[in-house]
Amino acid sequence: MQEYIDLIDLNDYPTLWWEDIIFLAHEIKAHPENYAKRCAGKIMATLFYEPSTRTQMSFQAAMLRLGGGIIGFDNPATSSVAKGENLKDTVRIVSTYGDILVMRHPSAGAVKAAALSALCPVINAGDGGHLHPTQTLTDLLTLYEEKGRLDNLTIGLCGDLKNGRTVHSLLKAMSAMPNNRFVLISTKELELPEYIKKILRERNAGFCEVSTLEEAIGELDVLYMTRIQKERFASEQQYLEQKNIYVLDAQKMKKAKPDLAVLHPLPRVDEIAIEVDDDPRAKYFEQANYGMYVRMSLILLVLEKSLKPAELFRGEVRNDITCKNPKCITNTEKYLPHSFVINGNEAVCEYCDETTIL
Ligand code: NCD
Repeated sequence: MQEYIDLIDLNDYPTLWWEDIIFLAHEIKAHPENYAKRCAGKIMATLFYEPSTRTQMSFQAAMLRLGGGIIGFDNPATSSVAKGENLKDTVRIVSTYGDILVMRHPSAGAVKAAALSALCPVINAGDGGHLHPTQTLTDLLTLYEEKGRLDNLTIGLCGDLKNGRTVHSLLKAMSAMPNNRFVLISTKELELPEYIKKILRERNAGFCEVSTLEEAIGELDVLYMTRIQKERFASEQQYLEQKNIYVLDAQKMKKAKPDLAVLHPLPRVDEIAIEVDDDPRAKYFEQANYGMYVRMSLILLVLEKSLKPAELFRGEVRNDITCKNPKCITNTEKYLPHSFVINGNEAVCEYCDETTIL
């Protein structure tokens, strides 16, 4: 059993655990004054190896509103990373300066790798195109507050379903709740990775794949719009071919249910026309605000050790196998033990979840 409560993937924990976080966030939002000193004397370290506005600032605001302090970097070029320091050493040291470490990194599995050497709890604030569990907690709180439930919803997810980590985390979470149905709206090039579809099938979660927003919007309770993840494309040309295919505008909103909730993790580029902002069904700015309360709740529960830690690695160390995903952290931080769950001739990497055929 892990010594610390690391949040790498929400699915490492039971759904009751997520509900505890959401209910406490609801309580904190209603009575923030009761929580203003709960983290006095504690320090949160934020290590952001990739750009961020909302995630980083909402974590920092959350800790400050709990009475704690913050340290960290948001530009690895100004830290010792620029001198060639490996992830292991940076994390090991910073985790002795802080009581909780929040990290974002461009490689899949990097935050799980960090948890191996950290001496305090580690929270995943986004690992490449893989997962983003605290955005999902934000999304769950938004659905709880705005729709009143986390089950029996028809949820459309639109845009870059291949590279959007918020999409992957949200689908993993919402498919664990009863009777949710998913409409996956994307081009062939940006369709959902097979390993997430496999999870949906294993859980018997209904899903279909369509290529236009128009054909899906009328049946949705929730529409989760996403940005085309420019930074994850192999070339500018490939990005330009996908850009502007899906744009939600007032015309399309006319076909939607009166109680649709439009969510977006933000930042928006041009996938939602500005005119939609004034539609009462647009909930993305409220969503960003819920993110701060959910992170207050998470920090509090982790630091007060109110949650039971999860085992992060359940498979076997197989240094003779190399993960085939070039974006997996094991391909850049060479000292990491290679850990896989082996099923016949398939080896599922425990850092990035991609399958390598043996
Ligand atoms: C998202 C992310 O970083 O994955 N942003 C966020 O954290 N709110 C979505 C995105 O960048 O498109």
